[in-house]
Amino acid sequence: MEKKNIDWANLGFGYIHTDYRFVSNFKDGAWDEGVLTEDANVVISECAGVLQYAQTIFEGMKAYTTADGRIVTFRPDLNGERMEQSARRLEMPVFPKDKFVEAVRKTIRANEAYVPPYGSGATLYVRPYMFGSSPVIGVKPADQYQFRVFTTPVGPYFKGGVKPLTIRVSDFDRAAPNGTGHIKAGLNYAMSLHAIVDAHNQGFDENMYLDAGTRTKVEETGGANFLFVTRDGKVVTPKSGSILPSITRRSLMQVAKEYLGLETEEREVYAEELPEFAECGLCGTAAVISPVGKVVDHGREICFASGMTEMGPVTKKLYETLTGIQMGTIKAPEGWVVEV
Ligand code: PLP
Ligand code: COI
Repeated sequence: MEKKNIDWANLGFGYIHTDYRFVSNFKDGAWDEGVLTEDANVVISECAGVLQYAQTIFEGMKAYTTADGRIVTFRPDLNGERMEQSARRLEMPVFPKDKFVEAVRKTIRANEAYVPPYGSGATLYVRPYMFGSSPVIGVKPADQYQFRVFTTPVGPYFKGGVKPLTIRVSDFDRAAPNGTGHIKAGLNYAMSLHAIVDAHNQGFDENMYLDAGTRTKVEETGGANFLFVTRDGKVVTPKSGSILPSITRRSLMQVAKEYLGLETEEREVYAEELPEFAECGLCGTAAVISPVGKVVDHGREICFASGMTEMGPVTKKLYETLTGIQMGTIKAPEGWVVEV
C-alpha cells in the first residue's frame, strides 16, 4: 500500500480529510448494517437533536504502524465499552461494542494510506461518534441517530512536543457531581471552550479543573487525566466520579505496576498536596503523556522538580514503555494491541 505524500514529522493535531468513513443509521429501533462512504458531509434536519440539545457523544483512539510494519490499534474494546456507557447516560441507543470495534477496524483499513509510518512521530487518530439526527423540539431524546467513524493523521496534541507544559488552576468548573464528567459527551467540551480560550489568552497551555463540589481536589484537564509521581517514586492518579475514565491512564497504572515495578495509588488528590509531587503528566489518547512543569494557582507557582526542559525520569519511562507496547517493540499484555 503506497502511503500518501504527507509531511508526517511536522503534523499538528488537526483535521485532514481522508478517503473513507463508516456510517450507520438507527431508525425504528434498530441499527442498519453500516457502510463505508467517501462522502464526508452530514445532512440532517435543522431541528436535529444534536443541533438543538447537544445530544452527541464520541470516542478517540489511534492506529499505529508497528516496528514490523503491521497496523494496529490500542484496546478498542474499552473505547467501545465507554461509548456504550456514554450512550446510556444521554438516552441514546447503544452501538454494540463488537460492532464498534469492527467499524473502527474497517475504517482504519480503508484509510491505510494515511496511517503514518513507524518512527515518524505521527499516528492516525480515529474518531467514532454518534448524534441524534431526527427533529426534536420538546426537550427529549431523538428517535433517530447516526454513528460514524472518521480518521485523520495527527502529530502531537500540544505544540512543542514533549516540552513541559504550564497549566493553571481554573476558576471554571468542568463537571458537576452526579453530572456527565465521566462520559465522553460533546457537551463537556463545549462548556470547556471558554475556559481553554481564556487560559490560552493568559499564556497557559491547559486548565487544571478542581472538583466542583468542594474545589479542593484535583480532577483533570479539558482532554486528559492527571498522573503524579511522588518524591519516592510512587505513581498517583486522582480518583473521582466526575472525570473521564481514561484508557491511557488505566493502562499506564498497570504499566507502572507490572512493567516498572512501581507502587501505584488511585485516590483523592488535594490541590494542597501539589507541591509535594516530583513529576506531573497529562495522559490520554491525544496527549499520550505530556509532562507538566508548572501549575499556577492564582498567582502561586508550583514548580515540579522535573523542571521546564524535559520529562521527569518516571514519566519518561512510562512514556517509553507505553509507546513501545503500542508500536510493538515491547510485548503487550494480552488483548491490548489489536491488528486491524
Ligand atoms: N479526559 C478527558 C476529558 C478526555 O477528553 C480524554 C480523551 O479521551 C481523556 C481524559 C483521556 O482518555 P483516553 O486515555 O481514554 O483517551
Ligand atoms: C482524546 O484524547 O482522544 C480526546 O478525545 C481528547 C480531545 C481533547 C482531543
